Order: sequence, then C-alpha cells, then structure tokens
Amino acid sequence: MSIEISAVKGRGDLREFVELPFRLHRGTPWIPPLRLERYLFLTRRLNAFFTHGQAAYFLARRDGRVVGRITAQVDFGYNQFHRSRWGMFGFLEFEDDQEIVDALLATAEAWCRAKGCDRMVGPMCFQINDEAGVMIDGFEREPLIREPWNPPYYQERCDQAGLAKAMDLFGWDLDISDRERVDPILPRVAERAHTKYGVTIRRMSRRHLRSDMEEFAKIYNAAWSHNWGFVPYSEADLDAYTLEMQLVFSRDWYMIAELDGQTIAVAISIPDVNQVQKRMQGRLLPLGWFYYLIRGRIMDRVRVGFLGVLPEYQHTGVAAALYMEHFDVAARSRQSKGEASFILEINTAMNRGLEAMGARLVKRWRIYERLLDPAAKPSAP
Ligand SMILES: CC(C)(COP(=O)(O)OP(=O)(O)OC[C@H]1O[C@@H](n2cnc3c(N)ncnc32)[C@H](O)[C@@H]1OP(=O)(O)O)[C@@H](O)C(=O)NCCC(=O)NCCS
Repeated sequence: MSIEISAVKGRGDLREFVELPFRLHRGTPWIPPLRLERYLFLTRRLNAFFTHGQAAYFLARRDGRVVGRITAQVDFGYNQFHRSRWGMFGFLEFEDDQEIVDALLATAEAWCRAKGCDRMVGPMCFQINDEAGVMIDGFEREPLIREPWNPPYYQERCDQAGLAKAMDLFGWDLDISDRERVDPILPRVAERAHTKYGVTIRRMSRRHLRSDMEEFAKIYNAAWSHNWGFVPYSEADLDAYTLEMQLVFSRDWYMIAELDGQTIAVAISIPDVNQVQKRMQGRLLPLGWFYYLIRGRIMDRVRVGFLGVLPEYQHTGVAAALYMEHFDVAARSRQSKGEASFILEINTAMNRGLEAMGARLVKRWRIYERLLDPAAKPSAP
C-alpha cells in the first residue's frame, strides 16, 4: 500500500501525532516528554510561536496506521529580521522506510512553496531554540531536556531524501565537579575579569524573573544576533520562556554578570528535567506529579543553555568568569555534571571555551536544508 498523507484534523489525529514517538522509540535512550505539555505546545492559541508564525501538521499513514509525522512552518519574525524567505519543517518522526520520509518532506515542501519560501530548513520544533536537528552522533546517551533523540536511520533516510547539510550542532559532556580537567588559563582569565575590570556575578531572582529576562533578552539580541539561525525573541516568546524557567527555577544556575550595575553577560543552565520525565513516563498520573515535586532530589545534571557576553565586553574574561562560576556552583549543589548542547559547529569561541573546561564532544545534531528556488543559495556560511 502506498503512503497517504493528511493534515492533522481534530483531537484524534493530534493524539496520533503526539503518540508516534512513544511507539517508535520505546526501549531506547529516548525520554518521553510529558504528553500534556506536548498537547499544550502544539495548541496554536497557547504557543507564543503562533504570534509570529504559522504551521501545518501532517500524518503519514499506511493501511490506516500512522507511520510518520511532520510539520511545515514559517516564522515571520525570523524572516523579517533576516530579510529571508525561509520555510521550516519539524517534529519529524518516521518508521524506517524511505517512501515515508520522501512523502513527508514532499508535503512540507509543497506547503512551504505555497507560502512563497525559497528553502525549507529543519527539523526545528518550531524554532532552532526549541528542539532542533536530526541526531547523527551520540545515540547511546540519554537526551537532556529539549535535546532531540532519534535512531541512526533518520540521518540515512534524510540524506537519501536529498536533503543537504546546513549546519551541525555540537553537544559537549561537561564534568563540572572536576577542576583537574580545566585549562589553567581559564581561572587566570576569569580572575582578570574580576580584578582588572571589576566584573561581578549575581543571581536572577524568582520574584523578578520577568525583569531579569528582559536583561537576558538585551544580551541575547546583541550577542547572538550574528549567530547562524538566530531567532529574535518577541515579548510573547519571552513571557513563555519566563514561565518555563519558573517551572524549573534554580537560583544557582541563572547568572547575570554586571559591570557598574549594568548587565554585560548572562548564563542560564537548566537542571535536567528529563531525569524527572524519565520516571514520569509521559504522564502526571498516577505518580508523575510526585516525581515532579521531588525533582530536586532526582536531578544531578544541568544543561548549559545560554551563555553570552555583550560584544563590547568579549575577550575580557567575562565568559571565563561565568564558566568558573559553574564549577563553584557544582561544588555545593547536587548537580555536578552537565552538557552544553546546540553549540554551532562554527562557534569557535564557545567550542574553544568548552575544550578549555575539559568538556568532551559526545553528541551531534544536523540541521538540513532543501532549496526550493533556483536562485536561492545554501544558507551555511
Ligand atoms: C562564546 C562567548 C561567550 C565567549 O566570550 P569571550 O568574552 O570571548 O570569552 P572570554 O574572554 O571570557 O574567554 C575567552 C578567553 O579564554 C581563553 N581561552 C578560552 N578557550 C581557550 C582554549 N581552548 N585555549 C586557550 N585559551 C582559551 C583565551 O584567553 C580567550 O581569550 P580570547 O578570546 O581573547 O582568545 C562569546 O563569544 C559570545 O557571547 N558569543 C555569542 C553568544 C554565543 O554564541 N554563546 C554560545 C552558545 S550558548
């Protein structure tokens, strides 16, 4: 039987869309997300992405059975900022069969073409700052929060579908309890930031998290805007991100570096909620909520998420000071391990910093691209 693709209509289809990875990845290192969270995320009126984007969801069926899924989306905020015409695809899951992937990608492509896009980039769910990329290395390791995990055949099928590599994202394993591995240059450079320039580090506050997130946004917009795939945060995105950060608030790991009272750098690491989700098995009931309540006792690792310095203060040791602060926190908290993930392969400054911290490159994800307009040039620099 050939593959039938249809748009997700109604609750039954959405349930099939959410359930597919639960079936495909059972018994693997994949960690089930909370189903409720996935439903909310995919509900257009509840997800901030839809204040500046549009998306369509599709299912692939064979003999009536769901065998694949994909979304196609346009982020108008992204395109406006970059003056681009990108379309994107995401939430890609499929059984190991080329016909399924080809049909899914062709459907997303047709949707993007109809929106006037000159290319289709992905997978992204829905943006690069959410889950993004096909995992191509590190399959034996559990994913940390918001890291995608898929079996090795995904890469082979995407390559065979004719998708081209746009960018690889690195995942570094970091033992923040082990100072022996740290290049001695880092504490020296960090010390300089404090003594020569007078940089201080404070923590974000739970009560004032929204205003601290405004500070984060200022740094993010200035420091990251030249990074490939940079997505500007809208006010609605920032509200949503603040809410997520509240749910996993961990004062120690939300850092702001200041000079003369002005924010010049931020670092946000997130305790790995996946360790809790692993026990919840996708459900709040009967015991899921209990694991969430005792999450502080379960989580012993963090995901180093965002770390950025205002361009005019780079190379002054501020980042090194924040790196060393991670080691100080690890020494007094339960979380002593971590991963720094989604670091662009071309982000030399950050990759160098991680090497100096003694981190090991253990995971890799690939963002693919398909050009739709003959005049379009590949996006990788
Ligand atoms: C990545 C980033 C935070 C680095 O900031 P930075 O201010 O350049 O870093 P610092 O000055 O604190 O530390 C770097 C210094 O540590 C030392 N150092 C770092 N890694 C080193 C290594 N592997 N070997 C030797 N020395 C090293 C060097 O002295 C280096 O100084 P230099 O850059 O002038 O050569 C900054 O480039 C940035 O904000 N980028 C945009 C945001 C981003 O992409 N973040 C990462 C993804 S989350």
